[in-house]
Amino acid sequence: MSADLSVSFTGLAFENPFLLSSAPPTESESNILRAFEAGWGGVVTKTIGLHPVVNVRGPKTKFLRSDVATPAISMRKRPGSALHSSWNWELISDRPLDWWIPRIERIKKEWPHRILVASIMAGSGSDKELSHWQTLARACQDAGADAFELNLSCPHMDRQDMGSNIGKDQELISVVTQVVREVARVPVWAKLTPSTTDIVVEARGAFAGGADAISSSNTFTSLPLVDPETLEFEVHVDGFVSTGGLGGPAILPLSLAKMAQMTQAFPDKSFSGIGGIADFSHALSYFLLGCGTVQVCTAAMLDRAIGPNVIQNLKRGMAEFLEKNADRGWKNLEDFRGLRRDRVVAQSQIGRPDAAEYHGGHEAAEGYADPAESHPEVVER
Ligand SMILES: Cc1cc2nc3c(=O)[nH]c(=O)nc-3n(C[C@H](O)[C@H](O)[C@H](O)COP(=O)(O)O)c2cc1C
Repeated sequence: MSADLSVSFTGLAFENPFLLSSAPPTESESNILRAFEAGWGGVVTKTIGLHPVVNVRGPKTKFLRSDVATPAISMRKRPGSALHSSWNWELISDRPLDWWIPRIERIKKEWPHRILVASIMAGSGSDKELSHWQTLARACQDAGADAFELNLSCPHMDRQDMGSNIGKDQELISVVTQVVREVARVPVWAKLTPSTTDIVVEARGAFAGGADAISSSNTFTSLPLVDPETLEFEVHVDGFVSTGGLGGPAILPLSLAKMAQMTQAFPDKSFSGIGGIADFSHALSYFLLGCGTVQVCTAAMLDRAIGPNVIQNLKRGMAEFLEKNADRGWKNLEDFRGLRRDRVVAQSQIGRPDAAEYHGGHEAAEGYADPAESHPEVVER
């Protein structure tokens, strides 16, 4: 009997929990069709918007590699190096909504049982901007999109009312989610930025606005390194650079930390994990923290643009994992999802040789109560 990789996530039936995230792998009809042929359970389209988009001159994405023998990290392609991260300053899709609509219709006609999530983005600075979210949502769902992912997380937007600038403001997150919710007949996922102090605050805003799930992470705000020979940034146009987004292996542990915060705060809610996933062991970390699906970008870009080998490995890895754990009675993702969510605890709750002397960094001061009494939470076991 073949393994059951299927999942139900926000009420949608997925053949497997592996999606291509919103990025170059899902920027065109031909890419998405190839992705479904390769076996991806779903795709999130490259973000669709109504505002004009003009990308920078030159490369929009570069890949950083680290040497095995030296501490060098550089975008220079060289033998003996391993992928460290992707760096991009690509804007959302430069194709207009009316380019996307017939393509969404055709893709859904050809692959009715695969999940197509429309990533959408507009501003939030006026009623007109907010109505753009509804225009995008109505058009995409009428064309057959199975869900929306709200891009509240693009890290390289100048506009203060867009992208990660919305994602840093819990009230704006709520407002935008609610505006889309008003017209949506399909699930609404909110893609949050990791560039905030406490992502639980923004997640609460999204759920308060009616989000069915949270996707995280988008890329982390970052700069290319300066080349020590030329003294120019490794990516620049006429000597100038702006911040872009870091993805790939380097962000896997960072993104897991953000995810753990949210899945602990909202254990009954749905989460789609993104960041640094290239094989099943990476996806498993997200599942064990409570995610119900995961999404992939960088690894797929480097594998024939849509990740045919990545998806085969993810599916094979999950099938082998279920087989290996069959004697535990695990038949599908639900049987092991969230199993390690509660293992992330405060430092003071981690075992140490001399537990009696450590009170979470609080010192016993003469004339004051014992820290164990004034901060009982930090010495609880
Ligand atoms: C070149 C590039 C373009 C991207 N464009 C979008 C986008 O349009 N919308 C979006 O929500 N995320 C976008 N992303 C972010 C990815 O969907 C994903 O969240 C991020 O790369 C982390 O996943 P990874 O570590 O697998 O790359 C983009 C990423 C890259 C590298």
